[in-house]
Amino acid sequence: MRHLMSPLDFSVGELNRLFDLANDMEKNRDKYAHICDGKKLATCFYEPSTRTRLSFEAAMMNLGGNVLGFSEASSSSASKGESVSDTIRVISCYADICAMRHPKEGAPMVAASRSLIPVINAGDGGHQHPTQTLTDLLTIRTLTGSLENFTIGLCGDLKFGRTVHSLIRALLRYKGIKFVFISPDELKIPDYIITELQEKEADFTEVTKLEDVIGNLDILYMTRVQRERFFNEEDYIRLKDFYVLTKEKLAMAKENMMVLHPLPRVNEISVEVDDDPRAAYFKQAQYGVYVRMALIATLLGFAPEVFDKED
Ligand code: CP
Repeated sequence: MRHLMSPLDFSVGELNRLFDLANDMEKNRDKYAHICDGKKLATCFYEPSTRTRLSFEAAMMNLGGNVLGFSEASSSSASKGESVSDTIRVISCYADICAMRHPKEGAPMVAASRSLIPVINAGDGGHQHPTQTLTDLLTIRTLTGSLENFTIGLCGDLKFGRTVHSLIRALLRYKGIKFVFISPDELKIPDYIITELQEKEADFTEVTKLEDVIGNLDILYMTRVQRERFFNEEDYIRLKDFYVLTKEKLAMAKENMMVLHPLPRVNEISVEVDDDPRAAYFKQAQYGVYVRMALIATLLGFAPEVFDKED
């Protein structure tokens, strides 16, 4: 039985085959419409979500399966003090696979260690968000044809942004990636990730102004300043509108630069940018369904080709 806690849990070869499957699922929906008939996905969300929870549920329904779960801790027995370990042992009696989001870093890992069914980390605190990373990689690979040789700017909350932390780690395994980290001093990439980048001799720079670097980027990955991760409301208010991608700023970018965002967006991308052909964040949300379909099918053993080769 395999779980997904980090994007690094899958080898590069396994990811390539997972993405091939996701692309095939997009093109041939009928072929996969019943492969999970009779199977159940539990979505255990201790933190709010729109995309991750609903795309997991849509993915399971697209495969013919059913879904059950809770969307907030307060409507589960966690509110009575039940541990994650006990909850997953019970969920293992009801469902065949579980996607879990939790505000505490490492909680899905604790669940996986006690679970009788595959567990997918659907985001744990400021730590990792592996299925968002799979979504991001599938989007880049599908729209550009490759996961190598590009310059990516990651902009906004790089300190608490789990999508950013997961994506950097995943991209470190591909050739020719240049990272440009764009953030205010207070929201810089954590030191432990900088150490990893240095150990892997990655090409990276850290800057404060988006305008100084936007013209060099092939991909701009915007992120939200996350109110829920701040201890102090004053700091949040000071930093929340530090970056706003407007039409004027986008005019300084390459004609084929891709704008990604894990969403939700608050103010950091002006709505007028949505109609620009470079804005790919709603397509990205759609790819999240296909990659989660491929992941569910794979972890349930219905796509043995993803795991059965030596890489
Ligand atoms: N991208 C993402 O994780 O969105 P949700 O918080 O809505 O799931």
